[in-house]
Amino acid sequence: MSAYIRPPHGSLTVDLAAQPLSQKGSRIANPLIEDKQAGPDGFQVSIEPATWRDLRAVAALEKVCFGRDSWPWPEILAALTFPGTIRLKAELEGQLVGFVVGDRRGRKDLGWVASVGVHPEYRRRGLGRQLLAACEHGLGTHRVRLSLRQTNEAALELYLQAGYSRVDLWPKYYRDGEDALVMERIVTT
Ligand SMILES: CC(C)(COP(=O)(O)OP(=O)(O)OC[C@H]1O[C@@H](n2cnc3c(N)ncnc32)[C@H](O)[C@@H]1OP(=O)(O)O)[C@@H](O)C(=O)NCCC(=O)NCCS
Repeated sequence: MSAYIRPPHGSLTVDLAAQPLSQKGSRIANPLIEDKQAGPDGFQVSIEPATWRDLRAVAALEKVCFGRDSWPWPEILAALTFPGTIRLKAELEGQLVGFVVGDRRGRKDLGWVASVGVHPEYRRRGLGRQLLAACEHGLGTHRVRLSLRQTNEAALELYLQAGYSRVDLWPKYYRDGEDALVMERIVTT
């Protein structure tokens, strides 16, 4: 049953029937983020489940990453608390530097990545790619979709590189009239 729909920079529909993957407590990954400036050791960034306790930090990161498109805090709280939603945070020394949200549509075996953002100071180090991959893994669906502003070149390149291809266009999807591209990846194990 779909219980919640959130359009702005991606749609978030939570399937209440879907079984949430084990999110609590388990560390999804502890990737060594490639640091193109700081030498071979790079940064140790953890990617793990976010909770309502991260509301303030996620809201701040949303603002930095999405500006006019950022979700208002009730939407962020919903994303952080709705059952079945995949919500992962990337932290460096306790500071939130990245975030991703995804949800499943059980019967269609379709997952949606509703939001992915990386703090500007930590971009181009592979973190967006890792968050996306961790979300896909958490979703566990055969197909994953997402939407983006047609002019969002960074996101487009990230998704193309991750194996997504364009499957649809939603005309005038954003408040300012910009079209949204819809992209999909078929996940092979
Ligand atoms: C899109 C975003 C999440 C990418 O995060 P990131 O951590 O910088 O991405 P990565 O370092 O993992 O990049 C992976 C690949 O994506 C592509 N890419 C990422 N940013 C790019 C940019 N600014 N220009 C061109 N290609 C880019 C590159 O192919 C890159 O691989 P490379 O660095 O080896 O060339 C980040 O720019 C962001 O938060 N943007 C604002 C929020 C947003 O638009 N989110 C997506 C909404 S749909």
